[in-house]
Amino acid sequence: MNIYADETLGLFHLQSKDTSYIIKLVEGYPAHVYWGAKLRHDNSLAGVLELRERASFSPTPLPGKPSLSLDALPQEYPQYGSGDFRRPAYQVQLADGTRISELKYAGYAITPGKPALEGLPAVYAENESEAQTLELTLKDDYAGLTVRLLYTVFADHSAITRSVRFEHHGDAPLRLEQALSASVDFADSAYDTLHLSGAWARERHVQRRPLTPGAALSLESRRGSSSHQANPFLALLRSGADEDQGDVYGFSLVYSGSFSATADVEQFGQTRVSIGINPFGFSWLLEPGQSFQTPEAVLVYSGEGLGGMSRTYHRLYRTRLCRGVYRDQARPILVNNWEATYFDFDADKIATIAKAAGPLGIELFVLDDGWFGRRDKDDSSLGDWFEDRRKLPEGLADLAGRVNKEGLQFGLWVEPEMVSPDSELYRKHPDWCLHAAGRRRTEGRNQLILDLSRPEVCDYLYETLSTVFSSAPISYVKWDMNRNMTEIASAGARPERQQETAHRYMLGLYDLLERLTSRFPDILFESCSGGGGRFDPGMLFYMPQTWTSDNTDAVERLAIQYGTSIVYPASSMGAHVSAVPNHQVDRITSLATRGDVAMSGNFGYELDLTKFTEAETALAARQIAQYKEIRTLVQQGEMYRLLSPFGGSGETAWMFVSEDQTEAFVAYFRVLAKPNPPISRLTLKGLNPELNYVLETGAADSSGHGHGTSDAADAAEGRGDAPFQTAFGGTPLGGDFLMHMGLVVSDLRGDYASCTYRLRAVQR
Ligand code: DGJ
Repeated sequence: MNIYADETLGLFHLQSKDTSYIIKLVEGYPAHVYWGAKLRHDNSLAGVLELRERASFSPTPLPGKPSLSLDALPQEYPQYGSGDFRRPAYQVQLADGTRISELKYAGYAITPGKPALEGLPAVYAENESEAQTLELTLKDDYAGLTVRLLYTVFADHSAITRSVRFEHHGDAPLRLEQALSASVDFADSAYDTLHLSGAWARERHVQRRPLTPGAALSLESRRGSSSHQANPFLALLRSGADEDQGDVYGFSLVYSGSFSATADVEQFGQTRVSIGINPFGFSWLLEPGQSFQTPEAVLVYSGEGLGGMSRTYHRLYRTRLCRGVYRDQARPILVNNWEATYFDFDADKIATIAKAAGPLGIELFVLDDGWFGRRDKDDSSLGDWFEDRRKLPEGLADLAGRVNKEGLQFGLWVEPEMVSPDSELYRKHPDWCLHAAGRRRTEGRNQLILDLSRPEVCDYLYETLSTVFSSAPISYVKWDMNRNMTEIASAGARPERQQETAHRYMLGLYDLLERLTSRFPDILFESCSGGGGRFDPGMLFYMPQTWTSDNTDAVERLAIQYGTSIVYPASSMGAHVSAVPNHQVDRITSLATRGDVAMSGNFGYELDLTKFTEAETALAARQIAQYKEIRTLVQQGEMYRLLSPFGGSGETAWMFVSEDQTEAFVAYFRVLAKPNPPISRLTLKGLNPELNYVLETGAADSSGHGHGTSDAADAAEGRGDAPFQTAFGGTPLGGDFLMHMGLVVSDLRGDYASCTYRLRAVQR
């Protein structure tokens, strides 16, 4: 890691772990020169940028310098209005009504460490030796605008973070109409784009397609949250790059609101990638003396394909974005009552589920929606955060105590950002929701959204939630959010600031979360938005895990969890075993396969344990014992994807390897059975070729058969009580053999089959 600044050449060379990023000043314009594999730093970098005269309609800002056109110059933070016709990174309207702005270099500073971004989530450094930061100062003197481009490099991660700060030093107000976090110009367009797209219950499916001139890739959310439909992430893959090799460039935005991510190929074949707050519906008034900080974009380069990029994001986000005591701690195995009872429960019912959970080894009970106000269905009571004595006659603390007595910690569901029109809170404060005066208040799931752009609303929530969280021994909180924004306007804002509401909402939410997580450092927070509607790095800064999807079907989850793993670590994904037929798709899969899928995240159950048969109870106990043995591997290990559910083969596989490569856990899934199938060999990854490994099969598979659709068969096949059982006669296999020749997968039977393996290194 190092940042070199050569003032004579006007060159900045940023070296993060295995990557270089080079900026050069061209007549005061910060030009982008290079981003990719790490380069040496020496005098040979003097000639790194070649400008060429363009016989086209590209204006030239400096007389006598026909080779300089902003329309062709690769730039660090491009503007519109003085010759670059491509997508700008920012737009500002001046008091004179014009939108022309031109930023020129005005200085730089290099500091050790990484500064926090005021009011915003961001990657952090724990000490100054971990990171180094370059601040490039640009100025538009006519507008009185100073713009600071922040770049941080890391000793241990091939990542570069970028963000931008606007400061208004002039004397008339300015209106920021666009303020993206990062823009990068690539020299050509021989890339594929990759992004994660979906819908409720179908989140983060992987989409890959080649870039073509004239056809921009534009991803965005206008929903007021990062959304189920899109994720604030975009990657460029060098044509031909795949999971294991080739250059890959990731852009991930640490933000939970409406965003935009685009890739445009321009006339000279260059590609511009931009990411930041969605300019749609955004503007920000800067009075003289005021400033605006953009969210942070995290840029990751990998020369080792998509897998290498993912592992950099996983490590960085797991260790330097997530915070709090749970960052490095094993996450508890939980049982959640949502799919078990929905709204129909009382304290005794909850206590019986907890009683069944204790002996299985489950560690946490989560009481989901329906415990407060008079909420028997989803049409009332959000905002009334006091227990419903009809369901919990002795109160919340008493129920938490009963759950604790069964040996489980107690967790609670809340949806604080919402208000039901049928609630005491709404009757008292009808103007506290997002709404536009004189217009309909459009409901979603029968609810409105509290206006978190207003400090008094956030203060109220802080006090109310603090009371709830202190009222019982609460170890875990599931923070839900079940609709998107409409009528985005605030009764607390002047007309000229109405377009700030959506971003001010995010700032209010982040501030509230900062205050609550600081006040309750021992509570494990899990974020949720109808499953994965706000699965983004912004939320992970406050809450180290997210409920991945409301879709708990094992087969659907393969695609969802695989897609999510493109950016996010397994330790961030909540994954539960639920009942069959599955409540979202009606599919019947075996308990064993459901367990194998859920074990690749933060494991839990979401069904009525009291309805388990004896065989199911025994299998669940083995699953839990198994997960406890591999939990650290899954939650803290390096993930390698082996077979993609998007590849068309119907097979999915992934594995987790410990940092010292002495242990690994492999999971293989096959959706549909085939007659007379070839022998499946899984070529493993990430092992030490010099080591030998003994292999054991997971909870079920001692007889050579994986999990089919029949739990009875799994149970009857006498798979034993031990969580893992010796495989391949206990003969060790070489890491080199397993990675080149592969592991022969068990002879699986039936549809929706799976098997798992634990590998442990032994002395040769
Ligand atoms: C949506 C969540 O994703 C579910 O897990 C559950 O908590 C419901 N909300 C409760 O209303």
